[in-house]
Amino acid sequence: MRGRRRRTANIFELSKKVGTVLQDSDGQFIGLTVGEDIAFTLENDCEEQGRMKEVVQNVADIVDMGTLLNSSPFELSGGQKQRVAFAGVMVNDVEILLFDEPLANLDPATGKTAIDLIDRIQKQYQKTVVIIEHRLEDVLYRDVDRIIVVSDGRIAADMTPDELISSDILINLGIREPLYATALKYAGVRVTPDMHPGHLATLDMERVREPLQKWFQSRKPRGTAPEQEDILSAEHLSFQYTKKRKILQDINFHIKAGEMVSIVGTNGAGKSTLAKVICGFVHEDEGALYFEGESMADWTIKERSQKIGYVMQNPNQMICKPMIYDEVALGLRLRGTPEEEIGPKVEKALKICGLAPFRKWPVSALSFGQKKRVTIASILVLDPKVLILDEPTAGQDYRHYTEIMEFLKGLNAQGVTILMITHDMHLMLEYTPHAIVISDGKKIGDSTAVDILTDEEIAGRANLKITSLYELAKMAGIDDARGFVQYFIDYEREVHRG
Ligand SMILES: Nc1ncnc2c1ncn2[C@@H]1O[C@H](COP(=O)(O)OP(=O)(O)OP(=O)(O)O)[C@@H](O)[C@H]1O
Ligand SMILES: [Mg+2]
Repeated sequence: MRGRRRRTANIFELSKKVGTVLQDSDGQFIGLTVGEDIAFTLENDCEEQGRMKEVVQNVADIVDMGTLLNSSPFELSGGQKQRVAFAGVMVNDVEILLFDEPLANLDPATGKTAIDLIDRIQKQYQKTVVIIEHRLEDVLYRDVDRIIVVSDGRIAADMTPDELISSDILINLGIREPLYATALKYAGVRVTPDMHPGHLATLDMERVREPLQKWFQSRKPRGTAPEQEDILSAEHLSFQYTKKRKILQDINFHIKAGEMVSIVGTNGAGKSTLAKVICGFVHEDEGALYFEGESMADWTIKERSQKIGYVMQNPNQMICKPMIYDEVALGLRLRGTPEEEIGPKVEKALKICGLAPFRKWPVSALSFGQKKRVTIASILVLDPKVLILDEPTAGQDYRHYTEIMEFLKGLNAQGVTILMITHDMHLMLEYTPHAIVISDGKKIGDSTAVDILTDEEIAGRANLKITSLYELAKMAGIDDARGFVQYFIDYEREVHRG
């Protein structure tokens, strides 16, 4: 760092040069209000009051939190917290900005804005920016100079996006490459750096149009699955935390037994709130919920928890025992399960979540991602029929992401109905055939994931991102671009199965 060896600089000196947005933004809150929090570092530097207010308002506006400066950090949705953490770093005049999974809790459009913002700051102020992220395609929305791929503590690659996308490095490491790049490979295109595949916008279409069209024409029609009964449904559901502001408004939906569904939408739309209403943590003001056709109005939290498991967005809010084993065993102990039955169940859940080696560890020694897996394990041991996961993969590296998703897929194949709140459009497309879109407390979409991610109107309203597959198809002159996306998904399922 500017000729200074990192080891000899202390953390205070370092923080003046390197601004870091941590992955677990909870640990970063200090102020009583959003404004105070953003101002904190400035206050430390004895900035004058008037200017401080101006600077804080400016950065808050940049991240779209300008109207919430007086809110408590604890009332914020997951993504809103992330934005505040983001703003807190922006106010500082540091040389190096380090972002640790900045996109983890942001909806795709806000993620795009975030990447735009990082790009602008880098260009305008000549900062060095390091982004740690596994949503590669989303980061590549703006130009990056180099991508360093780290695997098992070693550097597996250090090259330009064009070179990396042309290589097999990502695939060999089990890392998701941008979807359009995978489509090119399925269509038999030999991708090379001189085609500029690092971004969809720079890709040389002349050389890929024909193979893409041929590949799409080779598709075969497929059958449809038989319809199941409703397991969970909502009728005219409404809820508000305070009199001031409506959160959920007239929500209706039907979830069939055995489905895998994603719930998507803007930061602060009400997704986590919906999950809390379903679990009975808060009570609906109007409307009703049904489980297998029976009204849940009189069901207690405990009764609901026997059918529906909820893995919360923030693991820190869920964990209450100091030791991992006890945390995972807690639910069974509360149910009065005999201790000799608890042991094997806990072991199994720990193993499934990749935590078996840590069974005797304290929770405090775990990373954010590992904590998240502890909370998944603690719900899994209870054997729910419906599992709701709030951003299950946020903060997971790619290996754990794939492990968790493959594991959930396996669970789903055994009949567990799975609802997933997510901002990850790849996840939605790959794993959940059915998607429900919430925007500003209202349901604005309810269809197949492919339909949603190729619908520009809905995507625009709900801060989603149209899949790059759709854009690729359109650029290749394929009229049925939606059909192209569906074919890609079906093809990929076949590839994975075969
Ligand atoms: N305990 C609370 N008291 C008051 N308002 C709250 C509370 N929890 C959440 N809210 C507000 O309710 C709205 C919906 O929040 P919710 O957490 O359901 O959003 P979300 O869709 O899960 O967003 P994200 O994608 O950012 O996690 C937000 O505007 C939030 O500020
Ligand atoms: Mg949420």
